Amino acid sequence: MTRIFFLLTGLLLCSSAAWCGETFELPPLPPPEEFGNIVINRNSTRNGLLPVVFPHWKHRTKYTCRVCHTELDFNMKANTTEIREVANRKGKYCGACHNGKKAFKLNGNCDKCHSGDINSGSEKFAEFSKNMPHTSFGDRINWVEALKTGVITPQNYLKMEPGDLPFDKDLVLEAGWGGIVPAVFSHKTHMGWLECSSCHPDIFNIKKKTTAHFSMAYILKGKFCGACHLKVAFPMDDCKRCHPGISRN
Ligand code: HEC
Ligand code: HEC
Ligand code: HEC
Ligand code: HEC
Ligand code: HEC
Ligand code: HEC
Repeated sequence: MTRIFFLLTGLLLCSSAAWCGETFELPPLPPPEEFGNIVINRNSTRNGLLPVVFPHWKHRTKYTCRVCHTELDFNMKANTTEIREVANRKGKYCGACHNGKKAFKLNGNCDKCHSGDINSGSEKFAEFSKNMPHTSFGDRINWVEALKTGVITPQNYLKMEPGDLPFDKDLVLEAGWGGIVPAVFSHKTHMGWLECSSCHPDIFNIKKKTTAHFSMAYILKGKFCGACHLKVAFPMDDCKRCHPGISRN
């Protein structure tokens, strides 16, 4: 009885934080408009330019995390990715989008990225966040709710969107060595059963073509096609279905 009494008073007192004993040293939070803004400065100031400021809020309205952190190879640690001006110009990293097609191009827009100001874009943020569902911390935008209610519809893949791909065209997967009849893969057939994420990017990476690593040895270990074509989808014995040109079976 007394035990229960102490337990109850303990719980009551605990609702005033000072009595709980347990306090956590949380890192200080930046103001909402700067939350998720990353300063990138591996080579900028060294080359006479201001550091780059990358705003996550702006980008996550349009792309899911995996677009950048899987497809485009940005690390999830600031200043660890070797983003270089030349790479951007070749269409890698920022340049995968900042090419005047998906987003503003590099030329003539140096200061938009090399702003050196972690607060840059704050007016746009204020305008944007007014119409978003709210929470209490960080950038104070409830992104889960925003996604669920369709206020934002970020793209899950960059290089393609279902619909604007030649999915009717079969992919011809060439063997690593010469003289081997290629395997044929049809997106269309598979999409009757699966979705993009069943295979991309975990089983097949789109950007770094998996093809060079396809081999029957891997497939038979359950990788690539073997993730399905050993146990559930028709098994590997049916050579001809994947290699229409093969003479056997
Ligand atoms: C879309 C954003 C963006 C734009 C626009 C942009 N840059 Fe960059 N740039 C970057 C990023 C990110 C880095 C890597 C920053 C770092 O590590 O310091 C970078 C790095 C650089 C570097 C450092 C040296 C190197 O080899 O990487 C130079 C020089 C540079 N940019 C020049 C320019 C010039 C000149 C322009 C305008 C013609 C420009 N950039 C426009 C994003 C941009
Ligand atoms: C348009 C591209 C893009 C999108 C989309 C994106 N990020 Fe990033 N993220 C970056 C870049 C660029 C960096 C900095 C990488 C570097 O400097 O090496 C970064 C860095 C990070 C970091 C490290 C922060 C730090 O201070 O070290 C985390 C964590 C992170 N991102 C998480 C996410 C999450 C979670 C999402 C989805 C909600 C997301 N990112 C969406 C491009 C993106
Ligand atoms: C996956 C595509 C994608 C990648 C990768 C990407 N951006 Fe963007 N970025 C966009 C789009 C789309 C916009 C908004 C449209 C526009 O402003 O042209 C944008 C806008 C911006 C803005 C303007 C924000 C504002 O206040 O309006 C900055 C700054 C920026 N990006 C910097 C970067 C930097 C730096 C990198 C690389 C570290 C990068 N972006 C990589 C697509 C991308
Ligand atoms: C589920 C589809 C699938 C089936 C079934 C299949 N293969 Fe393959 N096979 C592939 C793919 C994909 C590759 C890699 C691309 C290529 O070499 O054409 C490959 C590669 C090969 C290669 C090239 C060398 C190697 O080891 O990668 C040979 C030889 C081969 N297959 C023979 C066969 C034979 C014999 C059968 C029947 C016993 C068979 N395959 C059944 C998909 C399949
Ligand atoms: C059953 C598995 C599977 C599914 C589901 C799937 N893919 Fe693929 N996809 C592949 C394979 C295998 C390749 C060839 C990979 C390689 O060559 O490395 C590929 C390649 C691609 C490529 C590169 C094409 C080229 O010509 O280089 C794109 C783009 C792509 N897939 C987009 C999608 C999209 C979008 C969806 C959903 C609508 C999807 N895929 C669903 C297996 C799949
Ligand atoms: C995520 C699972 C999955 C992966 C990975 C996968 N497939 Fe399939 N595939 C299926 C399913 C399910 C079917 C429907 C037929 C069945 O269940 O036997 C199918 C059917 C096929 C067909 C029959 C097409 C037709 O019109 O009859 C071929 C050929 C084929 N797959 C080749 C491949 C090749 C080649 C790869 C690897 C590059 C691959 N598949 C990877 C699940 C998969």
